[in-house]
Amino acid sequence: MTPPSTLASTPAAMAPAAPGAVPAGGTSGRTSGRTTAQWQQADAAHFLHPFTDFQGLARKGARIITRADNIYLWDSEGQRILDAMSGLWCVNVGYGQQALVQAATRQMQELPFYNAFFQTATMPAIELAELLAEVAPPGFEHVFFSGSGSEGNDTIVRMVRRYWDVLGQPQRQVIISRHNAYHGSTMAGASLGGMAGMHAQGGLPIPGITHIQQPCWWTQGRPLGLEPEAFGLQAAQWLEQRILELGPENVAAFIGEPIQGAGGVIIPPASYWPEIQRICQRYGILLVSDEVICGFGRTGNWFGCETFGFQPDLMTFAKGVTSGYVPLGGVMVGERVARVLIEQGGEFAHGYTYSGHPVACAVGLANVRLIQQLGLVAHVHDDVGPYLAQRYAEVQHHPLVGQAQTCGLMGALVLVQDKARGTAFPEEYEVGMVCRKHCFANGLVMRAVGDRMIIAPPLVITRAQIDEMIELIHRCLDLTLEEVRRNGWGGG
Ligand SMILES: Cc1ncc(COP(=O)(O)O)c(C=O)c1O
Repeated sequence: MTPPSTLASTPAAMAPAAPGAVPAGGTSGRTSGRTTAQWQQADAAHFLHPFTDFQGLARKGARIITRADNIYLWDSEGQRILDAMSGLWCVNVGYGQQALVQAATRQMQELPFYNAFFQTATMPAIELAELLAEVAPPGFEHVFFSGSGSEGNDTIVRMVRRYWDVLGQPQRQVIISRHNAYHGSTMAGASLGGMAGMHAQGGLPIPGITHIQQPCWWTQGRPLGLEPEAFGLQAAQWLEQRILELGPENVAAFIGEPIQGAGGVIIPPASYWPEIQRICQRYGILLVSDEVICGFGRTGNWFGCETFGFQPDLMTFAKGVTSGYVPLGGVMVGERVARVLIEQGGEFAHGYTYSGHPVACAVGLANVRLIQQLGLVAHVHDDVGPYLAQRYAEVQHHPLVGQAQTCGLMGALVLVQDKARGTAFPEEYEVGMVCRKHCFANGLVMRAVGDRMIIAPPLVITRAQIDEMIELIHRCLDLTLEEVRRNGWGGG
């Protein structure tokens, strides 16, 4: 299905900014009156950024982003930047969509807030729950709203344990997750996640959460000489082994992102998820798909589990539900869990002030309708997803790239020291950060996770814009290669 022409970027968005030029609207009231350096000083003096070395950033100065349109950002120096990360994997419909702005404005004027605790509801929350049930795979009729993906995963922990309590199996407490997973930054979210650096701070994980290896063929299957599909089956077996070690009667759930996003866009072999599903079914364990990144069209279907052919019992969502315009998250609750909680559970002693926030839900409603109207899921599935895959197959030939892989509009490039052998660079070279530096300097946001360079551009991206992005990626890889060779680090 060809998406309507509204996908094409506006002339303003396409026009290349002259070097050093101030973009239209770039020096709005907000930037006027202070220079970039003054903004950076105020930032360093007061604003503690997430996942940041505070002192290091204060020395360098933050980049100040002032405006955005379609798939482009502008900074306070007037540089135009192609945002190949959709903000933080969330701006699925692109920047500047007036339908979302109007939905928020209307709702703020009519009813900016009311809670859903006191046996009350607001219309946007009801309508969004209804629409989410429509776009979700069959069997998902209920939604529990939170304010973010992390909170959504806290809800998952509470909900799966409550489910087993109600069924008279309170000992089923353990949730199995994977190393290098990212499930958020609250105590439960960070514990479910498998990030060693996060666990090292604050005594995590909390009890009752354990991790198995991730299904990364490049680092684990390839060195063993396994074909991807054989490796996918083996990686799923790690789940069965852990279940048997723990005793199936103690295991509540398995949680995973269909594609591990923050871990470096780890796309599992096709054999992996169906085997995980089979194992969960065999032991009666709940299967949770964290769709915070993969949901809302990112992989070419509404949800990532559809792309990988499995049917979870619960799905966490956030980000793409509002395209990041306002914070919103939650859990889609499948029939198996919903029936028990509704019919036998009594009061579920859990909730957030902002569960079902009317403004967030109004924006979510406008956003999901816009995804439908623009045909964005089909656009990714049939057009730009396959086109990105085709262009990435060319990037694979670059001397620095060991593996280039995409799924829908997620992509990863593995930077290697020796292309023929696929040897990794020594960690201390931080070659991913070198590449990222060149990306920033050349007007491209691409994220580095170790030596994996990752992208997840807005779903409204066109083929012409993919060409522009690929050209920038090539340029940044070339500059990185030059620097690598200058430093005597090998390369190619
Ligand atoms: C898969 C996944 N789950 C959960 C989260 C946490 O979401 P939030 O940052 O909205 O709390 C993220 C954030 O990147 C994520 O990628």
